[in-house]
Amino acid sequence: MRVVRTIPEMRVVAERLRRRHRTVGLVPTMGALHEGHASLIRTSASRYGATIVTIFVNPLQFGPGEGYRRYPRDLAQDVRRAAANGADVVFVPGAPQMYPAGFQTAVEIGELAARWEGRSRPGHFRGVATVVVKLLDLIQPTHAVFGQKDYQQALVIRRLIQDLNLPVAFQMLPTVREPGGLAMSSRNRSLSVSERRQATVLYRALDHARGRIRSGVRHAPSLIAQMRHMIDAQPAARVDYVAIVDAKTLRPQARLHGRVAILVAACVGRARLIDNLLVEVS
Ligand code: PAF
Repeated sequence: MRVVRTIPEMRVVAERLRRRHRTVGLVPTMGALHEGHASLIRTSASRYGATIVTIFVNPLQFGPGEGYRRYPRDLAQDVRRAAANGADVVFVPGAPQMYPAGFQTAVEIGELAARWEGRSRPGHFRGVATVVVKLLDLIQPTHAVFGQKDYQQALVIRRLIQDLNLPVAFQMLPTVREPGGLAMSSRNRSLSVSERRQATVLYRALDHARGRIRSGVRHAPSLIAQMRHMIDAQPAARVDYVAIVDAKTLRPQARLHGRVAILVAACVGRARLIDNLLVEVS
């Protein structure tokens, strides 16, 4: 497996891979690779001729006080993990390469990015969209692979690929969970043992709402209230938002119909966690 550190080298390597293989998968990450990332890399490696993993902690998507400097970084372990799961290339650009002095261009997404995460983290999706467009442009993969855990991010990226006519197929893969249901996330590293146990309430609340929807409940506000109540019962947890929304537009629904996404964001200790489930309302 090859580690590439510069943009010019990445362009050459990516072009060579595209000539050699019919399909090239891209798995963009910020490092601190866990089993969720490993599963994206494995799936990409099993489906496509070559897989490129990018590791870049993107300063543009962190707001003030959101822990850009604190974000876990362990390149040696990430490189081992990417290789062990079938990556052919790991691209690790530095921030000055991605955003040289004078950089002032950004990709702005409309309504889809305005709610939920976009509201709690102003500028976040602008940063995500900008770096993803840069990576897609310089690597030009045939397929780009994202996890459902960051559901709104996945929709935003799918939208921008469509809107900008980027020649890449978007793939969203299911969330990987720990045995108690906690969604795998680099942020879980900062949870204490007790916080980790309490954080499983996010999945339990989602699963509760999904169960109630499947058994016929259609009134979203009462489900949201029940979920909030469950999460608030954990002393270390503080809800940011709970929502049940149209799975395509992310607009809230009062009376549930069609395909819906149940979304949750909460702080548990110092970690801000998000999770979601998709449900087909019959
Ligand atoms: O999901 C992430 O790790 C990041 O938001 C991404 C897509 C790699 C962009 O920096």
